[in-house]
Amino acid sequence: MTTLLDELTTLEQEALTALETVADLSALTEWKSRFIGKQGRLSRLSRGLGALPASERPLVGQRVNALREHLEAAFSAAKERLEAQAVAAELAAERIDVTMPGRRPAVGYVHLTNQILRQVQHIFAEMGFQVWESPEVEYDAFNFSLLNFPDDHPARDMQDTFYVEMPAGAPSVLLRTHTSPGQIHAMRRNAPNPLRVLIPGKVYRNEQVTVRSEMMFHQFEFLAVGRNVTMADLKGTLSFFAERMFGPGTRVRLRPSFFPFTEPSAEMDVTCFLCGGKGCRICKYAGWLEIGGCGMVHPNVLRNGGYDPAEFSGFAGGFGPERVAMLKYGIDDIRWFYSGDQRFVEQFG
Ligand code: DAH
Repeated sequence: MTTLLDELTTLEQEALTALETVADLSALTEWKSRFIGKQGRLSRLSRGLGALPASERPLVGQRVNALREHLEAAFSAAKERLEAQAVAAELAAERIDVTMPGRRPAVGYVHLTNQILRQVQHIFAEMGFQVWESPEVEYDAFNFSLLNFPDDHPARDMQDTFYVEMPAGAPSVLLRTHTSPGQIHAMRRNAPNPLRVLIPGKVYRNEQVTVRSEMMFHQFEFLAVGRNVTMADLKGTLSFFAERMFGPGTRVRLRPSFFPFTEPSAEMDVTCFLCGGKGCRICKYAGWLEIGGCGMVHPNVLRNGGYDPAEFSGFAGGFGPERVAMLKYGIDDIRWFYSGDQRFVEQFG
């Protein structure tokens, strides 16, 4: 009897000591089966009861039962404590700090080129010009011949571009070198009615990329056709545009030039908006800045657009918004525009 009682006492001490080192629920499960499970040490000891003399059995039996109750209570208490600990640990790990500042979504910007184009469209809209879209992938004929470039004329060489591979015998297709082919499209859709259109968009040149030239850039084209349209109308339109775009007091100067699709043709200069015409670094001390080309629509072009040049006349011009932006903001390298560098775009956000 003494032996069994002693063994029960030893078991109790060992079980309670072991329980103190149990640190989580899975260790607790192990502890349970080791000490109070069906195959555990307590069950094995209690099997020895049968071998005791009948007089000793009740006392030892009571001791076994009391020990089982005690160990089960200790188990439940430990289980409760460890479960509470586990929940607390999980809560701590998943804690959300509601006072933390939120993440700002990245805000997009309108690209400087588009800003200028929108401004230009707005100014021309005030004068009754409609925005007209024209394809970037264009027939050679629309880009050149219909605009009065004779085949093999050297003016074609100044606008080399990228060609689309076409089946043998198909007409030549290219990426437009200027927005001027839009003139033919717009005229053919409107003839014989008078029209005023602004044609913005991308143009392409197969050129060495430098600080001054990219192989893709933008242009906007304006075109007015009607009866009695004169060069005075052209100059009036340009003056209005220049004052709106570059500020009140900006003056316009037309210099004789050559384009196949206009006659007469002119380069358009505006007074330098930095020095007002006095001469400075921006205008290279000329007082004037060259902005684009313009002129009176050539009779052949009017005819190709479906207008009778005996009855109709028109003016047209083409400008590069990148150049306008470079002058306006002192940007010294056109490659910034399409570099994909967000720091460039953000400056004008
Ligand atoms: N298309 C010309 C170019 O890309 C610009 C131009 C000049 C357009 C005169 C016109 C114009 O409509 O009349 O260089």
